[in-house]
Amino acid sequence: MDKLLITGGTQLNGEVRASGAKNAALPILAATLLAEGPVTLTNVPRLRDIRTTLDLLGRLGAHLTQDEDGVVRGEPSTLTRFDAPYELVKTMRASILVLGPLVTRYGQADVSLPGGCAIGARPVNLHIDGLRAMGAEITVAGGYIRARADRLHGARLIFETVTVTGTENLLMAAVLARGETLIENAAHEPEVADLADFLIAMGARIEGAGTDRIYVQGVDRLGGAKFAVMPDRIETGTFLVGAAMTGGRVRVLNTRPDCLEAVLQKLRECGARVETGPDWIELDMQGRRPHAVDIHTAPYPAFPTDMQAQFCALNSIADGVGVVAETVFENRFMHIPELQRMGADIRIDGHLAVCRGVEHLTAAPVMATDLRASAGLVLAGLVAQGETLVDRIYHLDRGYDNIEAKLAGLGAVIRRTSATAGEVESA
Ligand code: EPU
Repeated sequence: MDKLLITGGTQLNGEVRASGAKNAALPILAATLLAEGPVTLTNVPRLRDIRTTLDLLGRLGAHLTQDEDGVVRGEPSTLTRFDAPYELVKTMRASILVLGPLVTRYGQADVSLPGGCAIGARPVNLHIDGLRAMGAEITVAGGYIRARADRLHGARLIFETVTVTGTENLLMAAVLARGETLIENAAHEPEVADLADFLIAMGARIEGAGTDRIYVQGVDRLGGAKFAVMPDRIETGTFLVGAAMTGGRVRVLNTRPDCLEAVLQKLRECGARVETGPDWIELDMQGRRPHAVDIHTAPYPAFPTDMQAQFCALNSIADGVGVVAETVFENRFMHIPELQRMGADIRIDGHLAVCRGVEHLTAAPVMATDLRASAGLVLAGLVAQGETLVDRIYHLDRGYDNIEAKLAGLGAVIRRTSATAGEVESA
């Protein structure tokens, strides 16, 4: 099993290009199921979750291919089946995103319930309730969601909790439903707006995506489209935190500063000089140690839960005390015991993590438990004294496109290995 071996202590400096956003590309790939015509998607990141989605679509009969440059092409209109099996859904919860498109276009879907995961229970009740309100008959049995419908009809849908993939699933269902749909308390995440832009390029009629009220006027059919996926704001933020932790100066290219306001505000608060251009962000820490910052995760435009682990890593070597409140997921502190093993002084109290910065971390073999936790541990490895071995990086490969090459390009001493901790120590 692959691991990352990181020798801490080098500054990150230079330029790095952000890849396309995983969490925009996944719903957009699911939305290709709605297209009657060829689809070309550019800026799709080369990730394990993308390959899993392409496998799932291929299994349904929608054959799309991704080339070396990340471009995805195909004509996904020849479905032969309408199910997402447990074996696939358990490896990637975002498989639930085929539910809305399959029901609205084909009137049938059998999708495994995702179940809980390393960061919390993560139910999908709101996806199901919304589809029911649009006329789908849904039963849940044997671990599967079985949905059947004639043509869905528009409805007024009010989410009791803001849900990103829930908003995306119902948006995709609404674009082919008869009549008007109003989604209230919708997720504002830029990835929802990016999905809406792709649907609009296919011929959908949508207004308000990116706000908490989305209006959809259903149409009878959608065509193919060419579309460029937005840049990954979480990958961008991860490189910027790396620069702040190592005292370096990094410019991230091909990114969207407007989607990272809350994160940039915190980076400025920790003492970094941050400049932005139309599609780049530069952070300069000028060799200084960051100040600890308080973080409160919440739906966009507030501070993203997907950047919480990276800021825990930053706080662990910062000057002062930072209190991190995780309000989106109930179990998203799995990186903290691992950071503690590297010498971090962090106390967990319910949904709060109180981080008292230490002068330095010391390298240790650590284990990744989910995607963003892994990113936090890699960042900790960049500043720890000695060689940190991050195990189970298949989590990282789900969501970061070639992270070790990108970090190495910025000066990090990092390599992929399949050696065990004992083998590395004795090597
Ligand atoms: N929730 C419900 N019922 C539902 C749906 C959600 O109670 O039917 C709750 C969840 O349990 C959670 C909260 O609502 O407490 C928000 O969850 P949400 O549905 O927004 O999360 P998601 O759509 O499953 C997406 C991203 C996550 C990201 C969250 C929050 C994708 C594919 N995934 O998940 O990304 O953390 O939104 O921003 O877009 C990651 O990339 O590492 C990742 C986990």
